[in-house]
Parts: sequence; C-alpha cells; structure tokens
Amino acid sequence: MLNVQDIRKDFPILNRKVNGKPLIYFDNAATSQTPQQVIDVIVSYYSNYNANIHRGVHSLSQEATDAYEKARITIQKHFNAKEAHEIIYTSGTTHGINLVANGFSSLLKKGDEIIVSALEHHSNIVPWQMLCERTGAVLKVIPMNEDGELILADFDALLNEATKLVFVNHISNALGTINPIEYIIDRAHSVGAAVLVDGAQSCPHLKPDVQALDVDFYVCSAHKICGPTGVGMLYGKEEWLKKLPPYQGGGEMIAEVSFEKTTYAGLPHKFEAGTPNICGGIAFAAALDYMNAIGFENIAAYENELLSYATERLLQIDDLKIFGTSEEKTSVISFNVGTIHPYDIGTILDKMGVAVRTGHHCAQPIMDFFKIPGTIRASFMFYNTKAEIDAFVVALKKAIMMLS
Ligand code: ALA
Repeated sequence: MLNVQDIRKDFPILNRKVNGKPLIYFDNAATSQTPQQVIDVIVSYYSNYNANIHRGVHSLSQEATDAYEKARITIQKHFNAKEAHEIIYTSGTTHGINLVANGFSSLLKKGDEIIVSALEHHSNIVPWQMLCERTGAVLKVIPMNEDGELILADFDALLNEATKLVFVNHISNALGTINPIEYIIDRAHSVGAAVLVDGAQSCPHLKPDVQALDVDFYVCSAHKICGPTGVGMLYGKEEWLKKLPPYQGGGEMIAEVSFEKTTYAGLPHKFEAGTPNICGGIAFAAALDYMNAIGFENIAAYENELLSYATERLLQIDDLKIFGTSEEKTSVISFNVGTIHPYDIGTILDKMGVAVRTGHHCAQPIMDFFKIPGTIRASFMFYNTKAEIDAFVVALKKAIMMLS
C-alpha cells in the first residue's frame, strides 16, 4: 500500500501555487517531479565532491568516479542487465536512440528493412528515417487500430528475412497504450532482427527486466522517473554494443590516440565521449532507489486506480472523447471536448493552476490517424490524488463553459 499524503511531503514543488491556485501537476508524461531525497543528492554532489571523473588521482575525482560507477551498478540492477558495462549513460532517450541509429549505418545495406510502429514519438521515427536515407534501407510501419493498439497480424506480415531492426515504444506517450513488447521481441528475433524498445514512458510505471524480455536495446530518461533532466541510459546487449562503432569521438572513449591511428576504449566508455553529466548519473540512481523503496507494484496499482477514476469522471462530460482506449494502458488520458481547440482549454486550465500538455505530443502520425490537430493530455504519477482529479474536472468544466 502506498501512503500518498506522506509521499507528497517529499515533493516540495507540489506545495507551490500557480496563478494563485494550488498546483495540480498532470504533465508527468512530459517530465516528472523531483523528490527532496534526489534534490539532496544533487546539492550534496556540488557541495562536497564535484570533480571530473576517471581522470584525476586526487580524492574528489576518486569520490565522484566511485559514486558515478556505483550509480551505474544501481541502474544495471534496476533493469536487471547482465553486466554493468551494458549500461551506457546518455543525455536521455533521444540520445540513446540516435546512438543506436548512427551505429547501424555501418551494418545496414540497401534494401534492408526497418520496422517502426504507428504509435511512435518523433524521436523514434526521425532517427530511423535518417538512417534509411544514409543506407538505402526501407522503413515499414506497424499500423494501429481505433483503440490505439498495434495490429499484430500486420506486424507479422511485415516481417521477413530483410527485416534487420524493429523499433517500438513500450508505452505510447500520446495515448498511454502499453505495447505487447514481449510478442514483438519474440517475433522479430524469429527473423533475426534486433529490437530497440523506447522505455521513456514505461520506466516511471513499470520495472522492465531486460534479460527476461531478451530485448537488444532499451532506452529511457531519468527525468521521467523522478530524476534530473539531461541524463538517461541505453541498455544494449554486450554482443550488439561490441558490434556498433562509437557514436562520438573525444576524450574518455579512446584507448590510444596518435595522428596516424586511434584505438577505442572498451565498453561502456567507447560510447561515453567527453565529460558526462556526473551529478545527473548519481541522481538518476538516487531516483531509482527512491521509487524502488515505494515499490513499482504499489505504484502501478495506485496509478491504475487514478486512471480508472479519472476516466470515469471525464466520460461524464458531454462531448468529451478519449483517444487511446486500449485495455492495456498506463495513467495517461488524451482527450478533446467537441470542437474546442486543446490549446484553449490548456491555457484556461493553467490559469486555474492545472498543468496539462496540449498539442500533438511529438506524435503527429497519431494525430493524423485520428484526424485531429492535437489533444489535451492529463498524465498522472503516484503522487497525484483523486482530490486533484476532482479539482481538475471542476476546472475543466469551467473552461468548457467559457469556450462554448
Ligand atoms: N516526450 C515527452 C512528452 O510526451 C516530452 O510530453
């Protein structure tokens, strides 16, 4: 069981007012809030042991290096990767995807096929389009149905011996659909294709086990999981990470450098050029510790309760249509009300202290599918409450009255 009132005390931002009203923060799918325990780790790093890592013999550098590498092990254990060097620090999900897409430039040839899903965020579409332009590979798309679910029979039909890569998000940021990634990974492997799963939206709600999933690459961002912005991780199976060339050249990623030839460092440093977000990595691990102490089963059960409650309350409003009606979804509700523009509702909600995201949510193909310009998206985390949902519904009804 989760004690939400106690949990809320950990998040100083939840006490603030916005436009004179208590903040109701329902934009968690864009970024989550940060508990004091993680803020303390950030303050402690800069107050006590800020130094560059893997470089100095001095004590501060050793302390920072130890904390950063210890954090990598926390991340490894959280995702159940076999080896710590299979965890590559990135600046976030988009960086991880681009690292893999760039690496595959040298492994693909003209006519190879790449499959993405109709539910992707732009960050899991554009890098693959760029990869296709570079290599002559062809991009294929798994279509979706009216509930916002992938059509698996069509996925099966797309697979063949030319399929080299499959990219799919674990959970859609725009609709909240949880995709059947176990099935997708299994079927993709049956034709020898590698699979990258974008976990940006799943990591705050579920605890993926990369070995049990047998996934080849899994990416996510710390800021969706109560950690800081500007840091994330790429998990890659060792065999794949060894095959991929380095993404960026620079310090730290080399073994030997001369003007004639450079040899590269082993994993994970081969992919970690330059001074990384040291504090971010350490705080990422602190955020995972924080969430694990609450427990992902408790988090999922409570968020499902919030999702059902909010869905029921919203559907009582005339002309309100929810996009994304899969049985398998997380605490994201995307909706529109009649012909009112989502931006107008979002702006009035903000005046009443309610933060939601409006627009296409970086997923224009989904909006095109539903023939809408965008939606209003309310997304909940374990620190939200039913009382906040009630206040949101009141604010929404007022906004609708003002705009009708
Ligand atoms: N991808 C983030 C969102 O869905 C930014 O809002």
